[in-house]
Amino acid sequence: MTERVNEVAGADDALAELATLREQIAHHEALYRKGTPEVPDSVFDELFDRYQELADSLGVPTEERIDRSPGVDHTDGFETVAHRVPMLSLEKLTPNRRDADGQPVPYEEQLSAWFERRLKDLELPPGSPLSLLVEPKIDGISVSLLYESGRLTRAVTRGDGQKGDVITAQVLEAGAAPAQLHGVSAGALEVRGELYWPRDAFDAYNRRLLAAGDKTIANPRNGCAGMMKRKDPAGLGEVGIRAFLYQIPWSEGVSLPGTQSGVLGWLAETGADVYTDEVHLASDAASAYAYCAGYHERRHQLPFDIDGMVIKVDELAHYPALGSTGHHPHWGIAYKFPPERRPTRLRAISVQVGKSGKLTPVAELEPVALAGTTVSRASLHNFPELARKDVRVGDRVFVEKAGDIIPQVVGVDHAARPAGTVPFTPPEVCPTCGSAVVSEEIFIYCPNPACPDQVLERLKHFAGRQAMDVEGLGEALLVQVIEKAGVRRPDDIFRLTVPQLAGLERMGEKSAANVVAALEGAKGRGLARILVGLAIRHVGVSMAEELTKHWRDADALLAFAARYVEGDPEAVAFVAPDKSSERGAVEGLGRKSADSIFAELNAASVRAVFEGLAAAGVSLAALETRTRDVEGVAGKTFVLTGTLPTLKRAEAGARIKEAGGKVVGSVSAKTDYVVAGEEAGSKLEKAQKLGVAVLDEAALLAMLGE
Ligand code: IVH
Repeated sequence: MTERVNEVAGADDALAELATLREQIAHHEALYRKGTPEVPDSVFDELFDRYQELADSLGVPTEERIDRSPGVDHTDGFETVAHRVPMLSLEKLTPNRRDADGQPVPYEEQLSAWFERRLKDLELPPGSPLSLLVEPKIDGISVSLLYESGRLTRAVTRGDGQKGDVITAQVLEAGAAPAQLHGVSAGALEVRGELYWPRDAFDAYNRRLLAAGDKTIANPRNGCAGMMKRKDPAGLGEVGIRAFLYQIPWSEGVSLPGTQSGVLGWLAETGADVYTDEVHLASDAASAYAYCAGYHERRHQLPFDIDGMVIKVDELAHYPALGSTGHHPHWGIAYKFPPERRPTRLRAISVQVGKSGKLTPVAELEPVALAGTTVSRASLHNFPELARKDVRVGDRVFVEKAGDIIPQVVGVDHAARPAGTVPFTPPEVCPTCGSAVVSEEIFIYCPNPACPDQVLERLKHFAGRQAMDVEGLGEALLVQVIEKAGVRRPDDIFRLTVPQLAGLERMGEKSAANVVAALEGAKGRGLARILVGLAIRHVGVSMAEELTKHWRDADALLAFAARYVEGDPEAVAFVAPDKSSERGAVEGLGRKSADSIFAELNAASVRAVFEGLAAAGVSLAALETRTRDVEGVAGKTFVLTGTLPTLKRAEAGARIKEAGGKVVGSVSAKTDYVVAGEEAGSKLEKAQKLGVAVLDEAALLAMLGE
């Protein structure tokens, strides 16, 4: 495999990507619930995996993360059946657990606390021995297999834990689990296990795809999930998918061993694949931990991917007394591998200028192999953090790639510090344009919007995936168009021509025409994506969408921004009607962020960009999301005020817009309806004065036909 050299993705980019992923996941979940999914489950899984990785790398605490909502693993066209015993998931030891002082809690401590709780559940004195079976945790998809008289009669995915999709034909065709258990000819039992794609078989399959000129599959886990959801199972036998079986949650008329280790032995005798060579019986938490820790390196020698280990109480008779939380059984816990960490030498500290002018320190490292790539640059977060860690050029530092994405310096070997190092002094001037820096909170900024680095970063962001998504207009080309075509502002890119581009390095007529075609396509991405692309502080993907939902087009938004900046009381009240609650008409927009967002939107430089975009033929309106015109709502103008009993105002607004109505901020003679909730104030009064019809939530819902 060729090694990639990792560049430091800015933390800002990572946060923005995290926000986008959060929205995409919510979007697809909502569609899924409506029974109208837009993407296959495997695509959803990829989004979720990427979200988890990023959240890990950014250290997002578990309680702030989105939960994968149940039901995501249902696929249309598959029969769904209820599980006899719900399929729960395991509690996890995680590198993100912090104590009351914010310090990370080491795995040993987390595991021994878990162990002591189990002793207590069993009314055993602290420190008692209790056998634990440690097994690898394979990164696949869980499956429930029903065997009747030893014959596999039904295979079901985990689904939402209560019910899953029937994939019997797929499992049988793939030969992933025994069709008949040797030596079992009576009774019935349910066996749980993990379907997975061994590395070799996966690589071989991808080689075949490549040879046929097809797109390869990103990873074995998602690939396996996709294969098992093939409606037509023909050909699955060639693919090489297997299942490790590890649990028998229910049986009737079959005599089974009383321990988890015994069950694995029994399953092996029936011909099933079990992790026999890789399990370990421990008598306490410390020894279970030591075995798990030994796998940090050993995992790479296994012929399949594991993402951790599972520690289980061995004695099955204890399980009822151990109980469960409803989400997790108490008889087991998962040990998630901590991110790989490697020492290397810090050669230099450089300073990067971001799109908003933020200066961030970056570690220039002696290249080091880490989790599959060679890392030569790593994030040092910010200057106060660098000072707190006391990182100096020449130091031996530790790098980690949590979630396998953004390499970061996580520690310094102070004891091994060479003589003559000096603390790093944050720059007083921008390293690129020489402007004197300004401080804001813990960050320092280059205040010069024309700073070449800022210009490039802003254009990269504007042309990037979350914004205009212009294929072919990457960093290398942007550097050239800045230099040779005088591109400075986002709207400038839409004026690029084929002859201009064709003359640039590594470009020809054809690629130039492709870029121009991509730019043409990007003109219709809509206002929300433009707002994201302008990199206005406090405007991430969700805020851009909220702003777009409310104002619908750039003219209305900029007109409001001007009124807000001038202090028009109605505009101010629209954002935050009650200063103490700071909750206004736009979801997530409080006074502080509004002050900053509208000031930026109202700035001459931003207005000029909007004008330039309009002149270049870029659509500055919301993408049409209207799904159905509802008579009586379509074409009418609504004002929402006060607290509605069940709907958030943003939600009510969205529904009106979906039905073809318009939502505005203030009441005038042109307003058709005012929807008033509790504590509706001046807008209600004004409506009554003007004789505008006033609706409550129930009347609105009735109008919408709900
Ligand atoms: S025991 C309550 N053992 O990891 C679930 N799970 O949440 C008990 N997994 O959903 C599962 N290897 O898909 C168990 N040796 C193993 C496993 C394993 C992989 C998966 C399984 C489960 C998840 C843990």
